[in-house]
Amino acid sequence: MTAKLTVIEHPLVRHKISLLRDQQTKSIVFRALVREIAQLMTYEVTRDLALVDRDIETPVALMTAQVLAHPAPVLVSILRAGNTMLDGVLDLLPTASVAHIGMYRDHETLKAVEYSFNGPPDIADRLNLVVDPMLATANSGIAAIARLKDKGVRDLRMMSILAAPEGLAAFAVAHPDVPVVVGEVDERLNEKGYIVPGLGDAGDRSYGT
Ligand code: PRP
Ligand code: URA
Repeated sequence: MTAKLTVIEHPLVRHKISLLRDQQTKSIVFRALVREIAQLMTYEVTRDLALVDRDIETPVALMTAQVLAHPAPVLVSILRAGNTMLDGVLDLLPTASVAHIGMYRDHETLKAVEYSFNGPPDIADRLNLVVDPMLATANSGIAAIARLKDKGVRDLRMMSILAAPEGLAAFAVAHPDVPVVVGEVDERLNEKGYIVPGLGDAGDRSYGT
């Protein structure tokens, strides 16, 4: 597994992931839960963001306060399921820019197929937080990070709600420099490349397809 792996050990995250796993959970609740989990994970992922001093005046006194440095991070959503996480991260980082990478898994080969890319022009100069709820084989996450590195991005982090040990191992080989933050690590992948016990297909469960 990756040396830069952080697993969020928090009862709220554990509880909400358990609700996500339940196949009775409807899409509207599923999306709300993913958003809330992403918010909680953002607290951990942004722990070391740079701060700068700013002189402000409170109702009582002048002071030098600390605010987030510019530019804000770029949030990179791997479509489709990444968008449900994206909303939660944006709740806490509203000044972030957003990049979208359209990507799906070929059901036969399990390789990631990219169908679109759209990001800000200065993407290479900014911290990129890549969001995708599922890191299964990690083919999608690995391909997305490779695409961003091709564009010159050097400061990257990967955020996923569920990961398989096989995917984490592959990711660590492909991108040992990139920190990975996950909600939980499950047992294994099945023969179709699904995480076990997992939660099923995150995109389908989010959007009722
Ligand atoms: C899902 C998920 C990840 C990918 C993870 O996307 O959102 O992007 O699978 O699997 P991997 O680690 O084996 O690559 P999917 O391809 O189903 O597309 P969708 O989000 O549009 O449904
Ligand atoms: N993608 C998903 O949405 N779920 C899995 O279990 C594996 C890949």
